[in-house]
Amino acid sequence: MCLLSFVLCLLPVVISAAAPPLQPGYYAKSCPNAELIVRDVMKKAMIREPRSGASVMRLQFHDCFVNGCDGSLLLDDTPTMLGEKLSLSNINSLRSYEVVDEIKEALESACPRIVSCADIIIMASRDAVALSGGPDWEVKLGRKDSLTASQKDSDDIMPSPRANASSLIDLFARFDLSVKDLVSLSGSHSIGNGRCFSIVFRLYNQSGTGRPDPTIEPKFRKKLDKLCPLGGDGNVTGDLDFTPHVFDNQYFKDLVNGRGFLNSDETLFTFPETRGYVRRYSEDESEFFRDFVDGMIKMGDLQSGRPGEIRRNCRVVNDPPQVEVVVGEFRDRKILSK
Ligand code: HEM
Ligand SMILES: *[C@@H]1O[C@H](CO)[C@@H](O)[C@H](O)[C@H]1NC(C)=O
Ligand SMILES: *[C@@H]1O[C@H](CO)[C@@H](O)[C@H](O)[C@H]1NC(C)=O
Ligand SMILES: *[C@@H]1O[C@H](CO)[C@@H](O)[C@H](O)[C@H]1NC(C)=O
Repeated sequence: MCLLSFVLCLLPVVISAAAPPLQPGYYAKSCPNAELIVRDVMKKAMIREPRSGASVMRLQFHDCFVNGCDGSLLLDDTPTMLGEKLSLSNINSLRSYEVVDEIKEALESACPRIVSCADIIIMASRDAVALSGGPDWEVKLGRKDSLTASQKDSDDIMPSPRANASSLIDLFARFDLSVKDLVSLSGSHSIGNGRCFSIVFRLYNQSGTGRPDPTIEPKFRKKLDKLCPLGGDGNVTGDLDFTPHVFDNQYFKDLVNGRGFLNSDETLFTFPETRGYVRRYSEDESEFFRDFVDGMIKMGDLQSGRPGEIRRNCRVVNDPPQVEVVVGEFRDRKILSK
């Protein structure tokens, strides 16, 4: 069993070993242009298709909440592994994986086998926000790519668009993310689209009442009814806020006006525990930007503590796996809280 490049043999050592934390400028020596390359590919992708910024940024949430930010989301299914791409929240919904591939290709030709796919997601998400008119910030890097992925873990953890604020508060608390983090990170819905599939229940049968969600502003509901008629095509998409290509605080203004797209959005204004943050962000964009950056950094810190590698292709584990071992320990681990 020690054939698997020491992994299995060293596992007991690893669990107790201290590891240096993720850090800004991690690739400064090993791949000095890494961050420039990522931003450049993102810029081109967003010119080609403006929505790709939102789609890539969403990948950070769906990667980090499932066993930490480890690129597990990007693994294709294999005959022996059901990965995360076809989980309930991801199937027919997550997109722009090909932009990540394109970034990886550019990085592999500049500095082969140096930059992890997990770090690509973190850099590209930051770039998507910055290139959409939102804040720009320094990201911590040095993550490793997972050797597995789990459809079940994704199904178990990722929230439904039907969720209410109190269940979302509980979910985020499991990752040591606060109520403020929940609301500011939901501001990511300032860019991008959602499908009719995600809102028909609130348009026609909220909580099984046979009636629409009463918190939807009537004119906006008419518009959504037209976009998403009962029995219509669930894959039709609508804008998550009124300025879907600009990262701004319009999302929060929309919520205050009863014009949130998803139930999980509008509920943040309906529930007293989260309403104060929504109102503040709707009035103060720079406060939203500051809190959003804090939240993205905290979410980016989530790590499983499992051994990892630098994948050559983000969709598949290296064959054989190449787990980096530094004098008997794996580097850069931070245990996922709780
Ligand atoms: C708070 C709980 C959250 C829920 C329940 C939720 C749910 C959803 C749903 C249902 C969609 C539309 C998917 C579809 O209809 O196909 C969506 C889109 C999106 N989500 Fe979230 N989300 C949450 C938090 C987040 C977070 C924390 C981020 C990133 C920091 C994020 C980023 C995005 C983006 C950017 C889109 C648009 C993607 C695109 O246009 O392709 N979401 N989300
Ligand atoms: C929120 O959603 C959870 C889970 O679906 C449910 O158990 C709870 O009753 C809801 N809370 C409120 C106040 O509606
Ligand atoms: C609304 O949902 C409830 C509970 O899920 C279900 O029993 C009922 O048939 C639905 N009504 C309609 C009109 O779809
Ligand atoms: C959306 O499109 C996919 C793939 O074309 C299809 O399998 C799925 O059933 C559609 N979903 C809905 C909700 O209509």
